[in-house]
Amino acid sequence: MTVYASEFLYGKHTPYNSPQNALLLLLTLIFFAMVPFYFLKITPSPLLYLEDNNTVSIMSSCDMFKGRWVPYHEGPYYTNVTCRWIIDQQNCLKFGRPDTDYLKWRWKPDDCELPLFDAVHFMEIVREKSMAFVGDSLARNQMESLLCLLTNVSNPIDVSYKYPANKLSYHWLYAEYNFSISTFWSPYLVKANDTNTSHRSYTSLMNLHLDKADDAWAAQIEGFDYVIISAGQWFFRPGMFYEDGKLVGCHKCLKDNITELPKFYAYRKAFQTAFKTLQNLKNYEGITLLRTLSPDHYENGIWNDGGNCIRTRPFTRQEVYVYPDNLEFYRTQVDEYRNAKRRGRDRGLKFRLLNTTDAMLLRPDGHPNKYGHWQHQNITFNDCVHWCLPGPIDTWNEFLLQILKIEHESSSVDKF
Ligand SMILES: *[C@@H]1O[C@H](CO)[C@@H](O)[C@H](O)[C@H]1NC(C)=O
Ligand SMILES: *[C@@H]1O[C@H](CO)[C@@H](O)[C@H](O)[C@H]1NC(C)=O
Ligand SMILES: *[C@@H]1O[C@H](CO)[C@@H](O)[C@H](O)[C@H]1NC(C)=O
Ligand SMILES: *[C@@H]1O[C@H](CO)[C@@H](O)[C@H](O)[C@H]1NC(C)=O
Ligand SMILES: *[C@@H]1O[C@H](CO)[C@@H](O)[C@H](O)[C@H]1NC(C)=O
Ligand SMILES: *[C@@H]1O[C@H](CO)[C@@H](O)[C@H](O)[C@H]1NC(C)=O
Ligand SMILES: *[C@@H]1O[C@H](CO)[C@@H](O)[C@H](O)[C@H]1NC(C)=O
Ligand SMILES: *[C@@H]1O[C@H](CO)[C@@H](O)[C@H](O)[C@H]1NC(C)=O
Ligand SMILES: *[C@@H]1O[C@H](CO)[C@@H](O)[C@H](O)[C@H]1NC(C)=O
Repeated sequence: MTVYASEFLYGKHTPYNSPQNALLLLLTLIFFAMVPFYFLKITPSPLLYLEDNNTVSIMSSCDMFKGRWVPYHEGPYYTNVTCRWIIDQQNCLKFGRPDTDYLKWRWKPDDCELPLFDAVHFMEIVREKSMAFVGDSLARNQMESLLCLLTNVSNPIDVSYKYPANKLSYHWLYAEYNFSISTFWSPYLVKANDTNTSHRSYTSLMNLHLDKADDAWAAQIEGFDYVIISAGQWFFRPGMFYEDGKLVGCHKCLKDNITELPKFYAYRKAFQTAFKTLQNLKNYEGITLLRTLSPDHYENGIWNDGGNCIRTRPFTRQEVYVYPDNLEFYRTQVDEYRNAKRRGRDRGLKFRLLNTTDAMLLRPDGHPNKYGHWQHQNITFNDCVHWCLPGPIDTWNEFLLQILKIEHESSSVDKF
């Protein structure tokens, strides 16, 4: 049986059937020579998160995103048997990944403890609220981790029929809590389409309207209480960049008369546009979170030429490397996040950082590699982009819960 890359990249519910179409997501991953030992600069942030038996105390000395992975013998919160939301592409247990040590680590912030995920507490905070994950398949990966983490407490019903049909967007309702979770598929955040719909491949160009938010999410988002925005590797693809309807340049379109612009140009504009769109929605009062770049870990080759990720334990800080492009993407998005946060104050809008990049740089062992499908299936790429479930991505939701707790506590205080 042949499994197309589309299945690999999008999940089996993909409406895409053509193998070429399929390639594109991956195409995104263009990898450069590994640069040894290039770590994001550590600058202490004044945030703090510490738990004191279900109450939050804010400690001025702890940044929960700064830390290391430590052995944790209890193992994961759930398995492929106890959680039914794991799609095959991330179901590493099902497909026989032989090593299981990658499941036995927890994130340990340098100056505090990161509390275990408490599904009951999470549900109490989000009762009557709505949460949206906006981005590519990694946004969905995080959402599925969250569905798994909540399994003990409640199971959601599929309410996708209530929303306009959009490829790869899903909507769930936890009826007992009236809490809804949506994932909006929008890998570029801005309006985008193929330049040639009859010929899609990894070399095919995309049109990106950098100043127009993608309606797939923007038209639906106004009433959401939490909006988690992310974007990443799709920006490696070649693109024609439009602003105000006019072509302003392109990335790798190979046309002499069109100005070549870096992919970071488009990345910056896409975040600017996404954040501005939220700020300009009259009734939007949600908390916006930027989930920072999720690093890939191809080694021994590039993604489409035998690259893989076969490590079975986390990197230490001395071993970690960061592809320079990933670092630039990270800096660019954080820049735009800071601008948005500043502007948001005028309107009383909150922007928060789900600063997962550093923690994930240390987890080359957390990807499916070749365990996102049966071994006899003919899949030519290894997946060093997404994350196994269960796996280190569950930590994103532990961070998320801490942020929600702080916001929840401060909003209760505001009422007095
Ligand atoms: C994200 O966390 C890392 C690790 O603590 C830190 O070095 C970096 O400065 C943080 N980024 C921001 C924008 O706060
Ligand atoms: C939290 O609760 C445990 C037992 O329930 C207790 O031993 C511990 O001292 C408490 N911690 C704090 C900070 O109150
Ligand atoms: C779960 O994984 C085990 C191997 O660890 C496998 O035998 C089983 O079929 C899987 N079940 C599901 C529902 O994925
Ligand atoms: C559920 O919450 C939504 C807001 O997220 C609200 O509009 C709706 O009225 C609530 N439904 C019920 C039955 O309380
Ligand atoms: C769900 O319940 C099991 C059994 O009580 C427990 O081991 C696990 O940690 C729980 N998971 C979560 C996410 O609360
Ligand atoms: C892409 O979208 C633009 C409008 O944004 C439209 O004019 C164009 O025809 C579309 N191209 C294709 C190939 O669908
Ligand atoms: C689109 O792709 C098809 C198939 O490769 C090709 O025949 C056609 O000429 C392309 N159209 C344009 C406008 O480039
Ligand atoms: C670039 O040149 C081609 C013909 O070679 C022309 O069709 C196209 O309109 C030109 N584009 C721009 C932006 O000038
Ligand atoms: C596997 O897929 C490749 C490319 O799609 C194809 O060339 C090859 O013949 C396939 N091999 C098998 C055993 O089906």
